Amino acid sequence: MAHRKPLTGKEVALHNSRESCWIIVHGNVYDVTDFLDGETGGSKIILKYAGKDATKEYEPIHPPDAITTNLKPEKHLGPVDPGTVEKIEEVITAEERARQVRIAARPHLSEILNLHDFEAIARTVLPEKAWAYYSSAADDEITIRENHCAFHRVWFRPRILRDVTKVDWSTTILGHKSSMPLYISATALGKLGHPDGELTLTRAAAKHGIIQMIPTLASCSFDEMVDAAAPGQVQFLQLYVNKDRGVTKRIVQHAEKRGIKGLFITVDAPQLGRREKDMRQKFEAEDPSEVKQAGQGGVDRSQGAARAISSFIDPGLNWSDMNFFKSITNMPLILKGVQCWEDALEAYDMGLAGVVLSNHGGRQLEFARSGIEVLVEVVDKLKEKRGLNFPNEKFQLFVDGGVRRATDVIKAVALGATAVGLGRPFIYAFSSHGQEGVERALQILHDEFEMNMRLLGARNIKEIVPEMVDASNIHLHTVSVPNDNLYDTNYERLQGARIREIRSKL
Ligand SMILES: Cc1cc2nc3c(=O)[nH]c(=O)nc-3n(C[C@H](O)[C@H](O)[C@H](O)COP(=O)(O)O)c2cc1C
Repeated sequence: MAHRKPLTGKEVALHNSRESCWIIVHGNVYDVTDFLDGETGGSKIILKYAGKDATKEYEPIHPPDAITTNLKPEKHLGPVDPGTVEKIEEVITAEERARQVRIAARPHLSEILNLHDFEAIARTVLPEKAWAYYSSAADDEITIRENHCAFHRVWFRPRILRDVTKVDWSTTILGHKSSMPLYISATALGKLGHPDGELTLTRAAAKHGIIQMIPTLASCSFDEMVDAAAPGQVQFLQLYVNKDRGVTKRIVQHAEKRGIKGLFITVDAPQLGRREKDMRQKFEAEDPSEVKQAGQGGVDRSQGAARAISSFIDPGLNWSDMNFFKSITNMPLILKGVQCWEDALEAYDMGLAGVVLSNHGGRQLEFARSGIEVLVEVVDKLKEKRGLNFPNEKFQLFVDGGVRRATDVIKAVALGATAVGLGRPFIYAFSSHGQEGVERALQILHDEFEMNMRLLGARNIKEIVPEMVDASNIHLHTVSVPNDNLYDTNYERLQGARIREIRSKL
């Protein structure tokens, strides 16, 4: 029940326990006692803010409407008188001051020549936690590197003496125009990198005629991103399937009503991978004496940002659920995270619209193969088993992971992909220069397309054919130090455990 008079900070502060837990978000008070579902990391974080203003912690992790949508109306307790809320003294650490200096000194956009440059800048200007979340990948981070390196095993066989005065690299994706054969893949928690979060992507995508795949776990709300789209701008939705299918149905049908043109169901994350850079942040941020192991009667707070936001994802998702999706929507259904031809074939036989050959940017199963490698086997086998040729309008193949250059995209298109997805490059672009950064990244890709199409002798997407690439080494799996300085200097090596006592004595 809403109070008539604004609550005071003192009143809110009284509700600071598991029995009665109120928090303030954006000037409003919410009774979140029912969100405390036992000994989970999520409950622990909520309790840390019990009786206090939680806006700063809440904002990058949750869209603005998350609390109002998920909490019963009677738990919305109304506004708080801002003058009465105890201000939490913000301590600006020496590290933060140094970061501000680096932000002020970052290179001008015109100095940025390729997508690797954005990664290098993001690494220096992002807060440590955000960099850890964005850059991390599973276990020993072999797959994340392989994603990129696999493109080095595909070489070009260009054609000469074709009139390449005019070249056109535009295409269609699921029947919708795109100025390049690529799209912005779904990546969560945009506000960790920039206050406008995913909206920077929406706006830049509009300017460049590119499709944005909206993530389920965005920091901005779904409606904010759709509202920010230009008239006619095409957006897809990435879906994590909730254990409560009622919630999933609501999300999907709302998306369709709002004009979303494709549903990408993530199928490679029944449990989130161990991303140790991200996890290590948790250990360092908190008092280690309090960190206990899950399953030993304690609270496992060691899982980083990723796990904190993903406990709703249903590990029981299976093939029979595809009928459920067909029954609730007419949007094309695409599986995101297919990793072998057998599953691609199954998706085709079920009448789905396509698959994304992806290992989630190396963040899930370590030693999963790269999307570009899987593409080669999928194209072979679907031709052999069902007589399909690619690219194919009815069943479209997408690839993501490790794409950093237009040449990478061109290789995938030559091998049969309709388009490829890019994740981190756009996050790093907005983290370093906001929307303008994303626009610059897209312009760089356009420029790379123009030159490489000419050098390859392909005047349009149809002329990028399998004969233009030699992928005969694609299945070689030597894990080696890549001969690729730009990528290598950005790659951050895993750290061993940082021992506090020793560090503080140094
Ligand atoms: C920080 C980050 C967050 C991501 N969040 C999601 C997500 O919420 N859902 C999803 O299906 N994929 C997610 N992905 C995977 C991307 O959609 C994409 O598969 C991957 O980033 C491609 O690899 P790349 O980063 O090398 O381009 C995420 C990737 C990153 C790096």
